Amino acid sequence: MNYFELKISINPDMEDIMSDIFFSNFDCEGVILAEEAYKDLEMTSTTRGTLKVFLTSFPQNLNEILHTERELLKERGFSDKDLGSWEIELDEKENQDWSKKWKEKWDITHVTDRIAVVPSWLNYTPKENEITITLDPGCAFGTGTHQTTQLCMKALEKYMPQGASVADIGTGSGILAICAIKLGASSAYGCDNDPTVIDVCKENAEKNHVVCTFELNTADKLTQKYDFVCANILHNVLAEIMGDLKNIMKPNAKMVLSGILDEKKDIVYEAIKREHLKVIETLHQDQWIAIVVQN
Ligand SMILES: C[S@@+](CC[C@H](N)C(=O)[O-])C[C@H]1O[C@@H](n2cnc3c(N)ncnc32)[C@H](O)[C@@H]1O
Repeated sequence: MNYFELKISINPDMEDIMSDIFFSNFDCEGVILAEEAYKDLEMTSTTRGTLKVFLTSFPQNLNEILHTERELLKERGFSDKDLGSWEIELDEKENQDWSKKWKEKWDITHVTDRIAVVPSWLNYTPKENEITITLDPGCAFGTGTHQTTQLCMKALEKYMPQGASVADIGTGSGILAICAIKLGASSAYGCDNDPTVIDVCKENAEKNHVVCTFELNTADKLTQKYDFVCANILHNVLAEIMGDLKNIMKPNAKMVLSGILDEKKDIVYEAIKREHLKVIETLHQDQWIAIVVQN
């Protein structure tokens, strides 16, 4: 079967958001990011990336769809520099086993000494006390390879009390709710405002033999309160819903806020201050930060 290989120049930090655009709008079977180191005009060392997208049909209305998605991201606070140039090359390829080709790129992600994310087609024997999360990378946001997800898993490992009730707002693939249960939470609730992810979350929980609750919902509609909250959403959304997130925290509960580019952190710190939450620690990975707060 022929397939289409699309190459698009992106900021590597946007890999998962860009992947999501292709999975949601086109017949996309997988993505691979290639990063190249380069010095930008200010001579700051940075990177640029090319996202290779494997499509099983010709991407109809490609330019219009990308234009709309770019405008939406700009409304959400991303600058042209944050997004990358989005230059495109599109080639039709013949008779290659593309699904095998993109799978070759993926390996086990050792997030910490205790947490490994394992692609579902690989066999892995965990070390003593290590937990594994089995997922299909490249298929939805939250495949464990993105810095923002890893920062949340690190915060869960460090700050979530054993037996905690956990809420994961913006659950994506359900990875953080699944991780929480594997790290010893007594219950995990995940919600997302995207209706297409809920079934994927449920399948992922089954694949990992854990029980979590997933539903289409947002923090403002929740009435229950939790011992630990995860919210890996864009910085401006976090700032907007900080009051709703605080409302679902029990007294003294902790929360990890992630999805924050270092240069956008002040927007989130201001919202934390506005809601009188106490900052416990700020975690860093590359250009991303996550903030752990307490009620
Ligand atoms: C960056 S992904 C995080 C996925 C996963 N939790 C992880 O850590 O890898 C953000 C998710 O939040 C969802 N989202 C965005 N705004 C939201 C809101 N206001 N309430 C609930 N979910 C939201 C998106 O649909 C997306 O699935």
